[in-house]
Amino acid sequence: MTLLETIEQQKLEALGLIEQATTTAALEQVRVSVLGKKGSLTALLRGMGQIPQEERAQVGSAVNLVRDAVEQALALRQAELSRSELEQRISASAVDVTLPGRAHPIGTQHLINRLTDEIVDIFRGIGYRVVEGNEVETDYYNFTALNTPADHPARGMQDTFYVVDRSGDVAAVKGESDVLLRTQTSGVQVHTMEDQELPIYILAPGRVYRRDVADPSHLPQFTQIEGLVVDKDITFGDLKGTLDYFCKQVFGPDRKTRFRPHFFPFTEPSAEVDVSCGICGGEGCRFCKGTGWLEILGCGMVDPNVYGYVDIDPEVYSGFAFGLGIERIACLKYNVPDLRMLLEGDMRFLRQF
Ligand code: DAH
Repeated sequence: MTLLETIEQQKLEALGLIEQATTTAALEQVRVSVLGKKGSLTALLRGMGQIPQEERAQVGSAVNLVRDAVEQALALRQAELSRSELEQRISASAVDVTLPGRAHPIGTQHLINRLTDEIVDIFRGIGYRVVEGNEVETDYYNFTALNTPADHPARGMQDTFYVVDRSGDVAAVKGESDVLLRTQTSGVQVHTMEDQELPIYILAPGRVYRRDVADPSHLPQFTQIEGLVVDKDITFGDLKGTLDYFCKQVFGPDRKTRFRPHFFPFTEPSAEVDVSCGICGGEGCRFCKGTGWLEILGCGMVDPNVYGYVDIDPEVYSGFAFGLGIERIACLKYNVPDLRMLLEGDMRFLRQF
């Protein structure tokens, strides 16, 4: 075999090896074996010195042509293999960068919480502070100190859940008062009058519990806001003005209020407040059961008997209290026919507000 034939054969071999390489690593080995320091083509170039003068130019240019061809083939194959290796890496990895991103929906406040905040803001604007009470309360604060002693008939309207101890007996605090889930936020009145300096202008929002079966107008668990004012020279006029202002803020300036005499054990006199029906404007319709009015809260002047439990002198101080159910107000404000809809978690319903 002549030298030129050997060169041609080496070229074919090198191109064959390049074609057969299936990874970039294998291709690199081929490159080293042909063009590397100890590579076959490099050896040929090194041997040029021994080639007779007259053949040198021809052999030299043949070797150079082969080197060019091999380098070009290497570059092409390199591009091919690295592209397919990249594709393999992408399809094997867990992250598919071509998928559309996952949306993270931003939550919003539930209607009940939003309305609570709205009402709190209204009262903050006229100087009230927010205080928090406990959902687990004692019989004393939930009933007794609110002028509702044991066996008072008003207790029957607010049956609740009692906390039992290990033996199954109703748990008691200091052996005196049973532990229960509060039926009303009104107990916060007693804690506040015991603990805080006068005058008092507070609002106490929170969850309450009753042994009621859920129906369109009852829930076993709901949200109330309690209000309490105790100061010098507070009159029923202050109570009326405050609650009239509140109703117009929540329901709109064109709504009227009326105060109906009522009974609550811890206020005297007591009243229920109605707001004129927003659907019929007071004419009477199905929503207001033909009366033109919607009942929204209970209120009254703090009963002197309650002051007796907290050592406030009713000759010096007077005050008023009120309590409202947020779920009820939400339904009246947004014309929702059933309290339970607020708690079902149906997004189609909740997104409307
Ligand atoms: N606690 C009463 C209830 O749950 C509502 C209430 C009525 C609160 C009159 C008051 C009030 O503060 O003065 O039915």
